[in-house]
Amino acid sequence: MSIHALLTANLMTNPVIETIGKRRSVRSYEPKPIPRAIIKMIIEAGNQAPSRGRFEKGVVQFQPWRFVVVENAEFKLKLVHTTRPIWRKSMESMKETLPEMYEKVMMDYEAMDEPKDMVYHSAPIIIFVIGPASYAVSCALACENMMVAASSLGLGSCYVGFGSMVKGDADIVEALELKDDERIYGPIVLGYPKEESDAMASIRPKKKEPIVKWI
Ligand SMILES: Cc1cc2nc3c(=O)[nH]c(=O)nc-3n(C[C@H](O)[C@H](O)[C@H](O)COP(=O)(O)O)c2cc1C
Repeated sequence: MSIHALLTANLMTNPVIETIGKRRSVRSYEPKPIPRAIIKMIIEAGNQAPSRGRFEKGVVQFQPWRFVVVENAEFKLKLVHTTRPIWRKSMESMKETLPEMYEKVMMDYEAMDEPKDMVYHSAPIIIFVIGPASYAVSCALACENMMVAASSLGLGSCYVGFGSMVKGDADIVEALELKDDERIYGPIVLGYPKEESDAMASIRPKKKEPIVKWI
């Protein structure tokens, strides 16, 4: 029985499993600030994720990540302006391959208030998870912990891979203190969820049953 079937049948009473089952990427947010205490709690959840050890300065180090929280409106605008052309270019390639999806996404884009932000979804908070390029698994686990924690606290979140494409802007690289061997994971956007448009709801993928082999 899937988590959703269990939830529907009211057979699921474990709050962690329930939160995992209910978490979905949120792409529409209320313009309402999130208290810093809540943001810190979400970062703490990320920080609790398992991580691969690395030998550095004579000892084994864990937790390869660091977090940059963006709440400044001007900086968010800079991020939007930097990533929007990349997103637009990628959308154009979707025009041929997924015309129906392209049409719905563009419908949403056109209806958006300024600044049109289809990358960070106008979320009030953007958290860049930054770590060595060779620690993708560990950093991704931190991201998932953060998204599940956000969901448990009544917040929406989304992992926005497009949002990491900022290395072409020297000011952003400087602000994030990105080193050559570092990579951005996420970023994870956070906010209080707003009802999504019908166009976007119609292209939301349904979860498939897991493929499992028992030996
Ligand atoms: C590596 C990665 C990159 C993603 N990049 C984006 C993105 O740039 N924009 C976006 O809206 N969603 C992005 N997503 C979210 C996925 O689209 C989403 O997780 C997927 O559609 C499944 O939906 P769910 O999260 O609601 O279960 C990304 C997810 C992952 C794991």
